[in-house]
Amino acid sequence: MTFLRGGFLPLIRPVPAGLRKKSVQDASRRPPYVRFGPDCGPDPGHLERPPDFAGGTSFSKIFKQWKKGWNMVVESLSTLTYIEKLKDDLMVCRLVPENKEIPEYKAGQYIIIGMPNPNENNRMVRRAYSIASHPENKDYFELYIRWVRKPLPGRLTTQLFNSKVGTSLKWMTPRGDDLLINETLHNGEKDERRIVCLGGGTGLAPFVSFAQHLHEVGDKREIIVLHGASYTDELGYRRLFEDLERESEDVGKDKWNFTYRASISRPTENRDWRGQVGRVESFLKPNSNGVSALEELVGEKITKDNTIFYICGWQGTIDGAMNYLEPKGFVTSRKKRDDGSFEVKFESYG
Ligand SMILES: Cc1cc2nc3c(=O)[nH]c(=O)nc-3n(C[C@H](O)[C@H](O)[C@H](O)COP(=O)(O)OP(=O)(O)OC[C@H]3O[C@@H](n4cnc5c(N)ncnc54)[C@H](O)[C@@H]3O)c2cc1C
Ligand SMILES: NC(=O)c1ccc[n+]([C@@H]2O[C@H](COP(=O)([O-])OP(=O)(O)OC[C@H]3O[C@@H](n4cnc5c(N)ncnc54)[C@H](OP(=O)(O)O)[C@@H]3O)[C@@H](O)[C@H]2O)c1
Repeated sequence: MTFLRGGFLPLIRPVPAGLRKKSVQDASRRPPYVRFGPDCGPDPGHLERPPDFAGGTSFSKIFKQWKKGWNMVVESLSTLTYIEKLKDDLMVCRLVPENKEIPEYKAGQYIIIGMPNPNENNRMVRRAYSIASHPENKDYFELYIRWVRKPLPGRLTTQLFNSKVGTSLKWMTPRGDDLLINETLHNGEKDERRIVCLGGGTGLAPFVSFAQHLHEVGDKREIIVLHGASYTDELGYRRLFEDLERESEDVGKDKWNFTYRASISRPTENRDWRGQVGRVESFLKPNSNGVSALEELVGEKITKDNTIFYICGWQGTIDGAMNYLEPKGFVTSRKKRDDGSFEVKFESYG
């Protein structure tokens, strides 16, 4: 009954049997490794042909009502307006909605985009991508995408990496609350803890949005972005973050308090690298004196009272980070304490 989620009032008429059947078929056709976001709303299989709903008068009414009560369902066209390949399998791209309007959304959310796949009778293939641009940017959505090539070429990323500027894509309104920036503590007080973001690979994307948003709104909290990549040429957004850190030094930490550090996990192939070595969670690993690289950076002990973590990446990245944080008493927002408190938010992808 996913149709009834999201606060939608009971339907005036039951969902047509044909539609129900199709949804079930789509769900069963989808191989188990194809994942949709934890909060993708309805299985996108249900949304394959939204215009079907506009068929009859009563249905158009229902569809309008549905859209009103369940804004996740809106699917529109957009154009790919910019593609920057960092490597042949890593890119930053931008989408502009057909009506040129970027809707309200929050830093840390993602959008679902889709393209018909010619190898599958033009069946629409939809996937979630974290929005790297910030909500104040009303010109475009920016995404940071890896072309998944192994063990088999990914269905959507292969098409995206073969696309050119001008290509049309479907998109659905931003969603997701796993990585929203926490503003208040469980007791209602303002959350003034240090913000530490750990991004593995393209899992950096939501933190690109965080940093630009927090900068734009003049947030005074201490912000640290830690990025983990296999190779130095996969440190996307490095210049943006270095500029934000430089500005922090120039204007003073009381006005803008931002630090960026990267970690390289395949250092033997990056011999010039002088920074942190290992996967991104290695920033949390205590040295022989019990002090982690992150603690050396901030100059104090990291505790659950002074720091909140946001983590995005492989499940191994989340688990690796929690291995260091759990013994210090940190808990995630998914397993918050009875009083509602937590110190870690995360979004994982496998
Ligand atoms: C909330 C969220 C946000 C995300 N944000 C981003 C982001 O910002 N950037 C980003 O790059 N990605 C992001 N992703 C991942 C993205 O949604 C896709 O999962 C990813 O791009 C792969 O899609 P695809 O269609 O190319 O691959 P798929 O076709 O879905 O393939 C997925 C995997 O299965 C393998 N596979 C395919 N067919 C077979 C087969 N027959 N047998 C065995 N294995 C097979 C592929 O090789 C691949 O490893 C996000 C995911 C979520 C849930
Ligand atoms: N919000 C989301 O859910 C989201 C956001 C962005 C991307 N994604 C998806 O994530 C996938 C891969 O991302 P990517 O290509 O950007 O990552 P990547 O470049 O392959 O890896 C980035 C870093 O993570 C490490 N890593 C790789 N596998 C790991 C594991 N199992 N556990 C812990 N660390 C690991 C790598 O270390 P090594 O060098 O040792 O391999 C590297 O340091 C893609 O399919 C992408 O579509 C999802």
